[in-house]
Amino acid sequence: MQRRTLSTLLLALCLGAGARAQSGEEVPFITSPDNVTLEMLRLAGVGPRDHVIDLGSGDGRIVITAARRFGASGLGVEIVPQLVESSRRSAQEAGVADRVKFAEQDLFKTDLAPATVVTMYLLPEVNMQLRPALLALKPGTRVVSHDWDLGDWKPDRTSVLEVPDKKVGLVKTSQVHLWTVPAQVQGLWCGTGPLRDFSLRLTQKHQAVEGELLRKGRSRTIAGTMEGNVLRTQSTRVGALVLEKQGDELTVKEGDGPLALARGTAFRRGEGEACTG
Ligand SMILES: C[S@@+](CC[C@H](N)C(=O)[O-])C[C@H]1O[C@@H](n2cnc3c(N)ncnc32)[C@H](O)[C@@H]1O
Repeated sequence: MQRRTLSTLLLALCLGAGARAQSGEEVPFITSPDNVTLEMLRLAGVGPRDHVIDLGSGDGRIVITAARRFGASGLGVEIVPQLVESSRRSAQEAGVADRVKFAEQDLFKTDLAPATVVTMYLLPEVNMQLRPALLALKPGTRVVSHDWDLGDWKPDRTSVLEVPDKKVGLVKTSQVHLWTVPAQVQGLWCGTGPLRDFSLRLTQKHQAVEGELLRKGRSRTIAGTMEGNVLRTQSTRVGALVLEKQGDELTVKEGDGPLALARGTAFRRGEGEACTG
């Protein structure tokens, strides 16, 4: 792996989104200020049932705060041994050593599956290298990034915070982005029970879903947003719908318009071009 100097990397951070890091490069140690750390955890709604994995955990502040302030468990992954050691000491001092662990390891070799929340303060290209693994996580897993985004996987929410003593960049603000890993619903769905005349044909790009609701040759366009397993469609002539994916079923949780009476019934995954029967 080609090592770049710290000053080059700081320059990349300073230049902002236009700066492109190279594949495999390393990210310098720069801490997220306290107000940014808190907003990362607040935006993700971290609570006692969460397991937070911070990729490139630096001095351990994000997972220690997640445990101390929000009651979560956590894992910090860091390649610099001294930072791992000082994180473990800080966890002891904060009285959360039983709930947080720090591992000296490469963030790219980390099993992310146990996470309910993944936090990152890395570099744009590193975020993009991680993106396929993040999108493959269990639907509903939250991903939070300080400053850098995930390309055309647009954040569900973004906060902008004043950081007057920001160490990098010309702008004295930080951005905190939140994504919720979307379930995959692309394809054909065939109504069952009271919905048996209906079918849904959906296309999906990350959390954005478009498609049509079909019934007896008539088609109505729908568009909506996935948040984890839940698809919320905008209000159109078929009304607003809330559908939840559970295994191979898409169940109507709320609906007005023609599907008002279909609450609790489900679409099942279909095969081929159209639903039969
Ligand atoms: C910008 S700092 C962020 C520290 C902390 N997450 C925070 O927000 O305060 C990035 C950290 O990632 C670590 N890092 C860089 N490359 C890494 C890798 N491949 N695996 C694990 N950690 C890495 C660096 O040593 C550094 O401590």
